[in-house]
Amino acid sequence: MNILILGGGGREHALAWKMKQSPLCRNIFIAPGNGGTSAHGTNVPIPINDFEKIKKFVLKIGIGMVVVGPEEPLVRGIWDFFKADEALKHIAIIAPSKAGAQLEGSKAFAKQFMAEANIPTAAYCEVNDYQQGVDFLKTQKPPYVLKADGLAAGKGVLIINELREAERELKAMLDGKFGAASSKVVIEAFLKGIEFSVFVLTDGSNYKILPVAKDYKRVGEGDTGLNTGGMGAVSPVPFVDKTMMAKVEERIIIPTIQHLKTRNIIYKGFIFIGLISVEGEPFVIEYNCRLGDPETEVVIPRLRNDLVKLFDLLDKGRLAEASILQDRRTATTVMLTAGGYPNDYKKGDVITNIPKNESALVFHAGTHSLPDGKLVTNGGRVIAVTALGTDIESALAISNQVAQQIQFENKYYRTDIGLDLLLEKV
Ligand code: AMP
Ligand code: GLY
Repeated sequence: MNILILGGGGREHALAWKMKQSPLCRNIFIAPGNGGTSAHGTNVPIPINDFEKIKKFVLKIGIGMVVVGPEEPLVRGIWDFFKADEALKHIAIIAPSKAGAQLEGSKAFAKQFMAEANIPTAAYCEVNDYQQGVDFLKTQKPPYVLKADGLAAGKGVLIINELREAERELKAMLDGKFGAASSKVVIEAFLKGIEFSVFVLTDGSNYKILPVAKDYKRVGEGDTGLNTGGMGAVSPVPFVDKTMMAKVEERIIIPTIQHLKTRNIIYKGFIFIGLISVEGEPFVIEYNCRLGDPETEVVIPRLRNDLVKLFDLLDKGRLAEASILQDRRTATTVMLTAGGYPNDYKKGDVITNIPKNESALVFHAGTHSLPDGKLVTNGGRVIAVTALGTDIESALAISNQVAQQIQFENKYYRTDIGLDLLLEKV
């Protein structure tokens, strides 16, 4: 089968690397891809939100399966576009429907969904009126959590210590700080605990739980500084033991799948559940309708199944037949970023010294291959270096060694990914 992957980050490189290993895969195409994905397939310069262009390409090449990486085409309804088209409707598309993608596309929708299904999450109030918001803020203790309802490129959540400042920010949000995405704001109670991410693959009735991961969002060592898309990740997560996973499955995963069905929402793809353990009890921080990045760069290398086979079963509604096989080893990934990220940074710096051997898996995120064969930086997050080891320390030692070896101007990375988990008593 010919496969099209939409997206161009480290997540999509990891998916291309994995899917290319399947005997069911003939050719892989990645739109738009990056300087690394071309090692496993063909990059095609099609914008991920241009559904008509995607359709033309899919029909021209004879694509049998489409895997959607980022949230935007999902929230814009790429699944519905395929299913409404006579020529495309038979093609396997690994994606939730537009209604299902609302779990990520609208925080108010997700909170309402969880309230209906009795899924544990922070208490909240949804507001589009400033005074109503201020009244709710006054019932809360600091810190205050304000979330833009819609997609805001990962920047729409503010956590604020002072009431006055929270009121000011609420006003700015309602006045369009994040454009239309913050015309509605969700105000939440602050939950104190430790976060982790669970990925579920579902065909709408059956579900499979993938390896658990933790990502590191802050730019600085010791989880300090600005939020980023993610500076690294680790899988598995030591404190997420069998007892915790049983609670997550019973209280969160099963009710989520059931409630999607109750509401007649078609969902044939990934559900990424951002969780927080509050004194050993799991609460949902957010849903995403896709895989996480850089979590994918540790989850997929630990998955021993044929991923194309899993997707094929999912498409046929036969996911129940699969058993997830996990590599027992620990995976760490360290993200090499361009100096200045997540603020302004430079693009176009030459990247050298990528190891040729397979000591680590080098997943490209923001890279681009020039016609003369040079590889250059093309984003804030440049390369994710994944390694497998018997424990966090041994995997991290390899990730860090290769992170040090790869060269480009103003390279920056965190050296402490996963180390907090060695000290943590949760
Ligand atoms: P989100 O985009 O919803 O994942 O929020 C971004 C980050 O804000 C999360 O990863 C958490 O670290 C933090 N956060 C969001 N909601 C809460 C909450 N209710 N309590 C504490 N931290 C939160
Ligand atoms: N690493 C978090 C995300 O993909 O949203």
